[in-house]
Amino acid sequence: MTEIKSMKLYTHVQRIYRELGELGKTIEDPLDVDELSAFDQLHYHGTDALDVAMALLGADAGQRWLEIGSGLGGPARYIAARSGTHVTALELQRDQHEVACSLTARCGLNNRVEHVCGDFMQYNREPGSFDAIVSWLALYHIPERARLLEKCHRLLKPGGRFYTEDLTARGDIDEAQRALLERDLYAITLPHITEYRKDLENAGFEVEMCQSMSSDWAEFVRVRLAAFRRDRARHLRVHGEAAVTALTDFYSAVNRHFQSGKLGGLRLCASKLGTAR
Ligand SMILES: C[S@@+](CC[C@H](N)C(=O)[O-])C[C@H]1O[C@@H](n2cnc3c(N)ncnc32)[C@H](O)[C@@H]1O
Repeated sequence: MTEIKSMKLYTHVQRIYRELGELGKTIEDPLDVDELSAFDQLHYHGTDALDVAMALLGADAGQRWLEIGSGLGGPARYIAARSGTHVTALELQRDQHEVACSLTARCGLNNRVEHVCGDFMQYNREPGSFDAIVSWLALYHIPERARLLEKCHRLLKPGGRFYTEDLTARGDIDEAQRALLERDLYAITLPHITEYRKDLENAGFEVEMCQSMSSDWAEFVRVRLAAFRRDRARHLRVHGEAAVTALTDFYSAVNRHFQSGKLGGLRLCASKLGTAR
């Protein structure tokens, strides 16, 4: 069974401290959310993608959101800082969770961002606890899609909103590429866009928007790899050989999968209907 750390984006999580060191920050200096956003967004198009979600969902200070798979806490901090929304940031991997907690404290956002370490599939809160559940590039890691969406439905208030950017399959993927997708991206659940939408409807959601991001992201990951390779000498100086090799491997693998035409992605927004069908 593949483990999540087979995805090389998730090794060397301390590298963000090296980037902050480059900005002249010590490990204890206070931070501003905007200083971090070049390094703490583990999805495509950084905070621009978050602006899309906040506008669609009408983020404001009276709301409580849950982010599933919050990584280093970048999205949660940005949303909380910009809109005043209270965000519960749920992250599976303890090392990422710990870095996230320390960065949030340094940003003075402990009152608006609650970090929780754990698996969403084991996470319990009162039904109707959240106005919105959001997730960037995390749900494809999680098995048992029907139970996952049922849990989201239960945790949302009536009329609550669900927003995700997630990976999807395109065309037929053979066993060999599936195995590589699992190793390189820890891709456990990779439906086609039409199935993704149907899964939401079956769980009792009304899909408001479902947009393919496949071509856009294929270009994004191509440019990201080229930029990383171009600046290799700088990255070696800052992060060392092991971290640079891991990230080069990761960016190359993601690029290969997107350029193969078999990997795609979506941006989807839905709202909770009364009960699951
Ligand atoms: C690609 S990262 C994205 C992090 C963050 N959403 C962002 O955009 O910066 C996906 C994260 O989902 C987390 N994750 C995967 N499965 C999870 C689960 N079952 N429960 C909570 N978090 C999970 C991973 O550990 C990883 O940190």
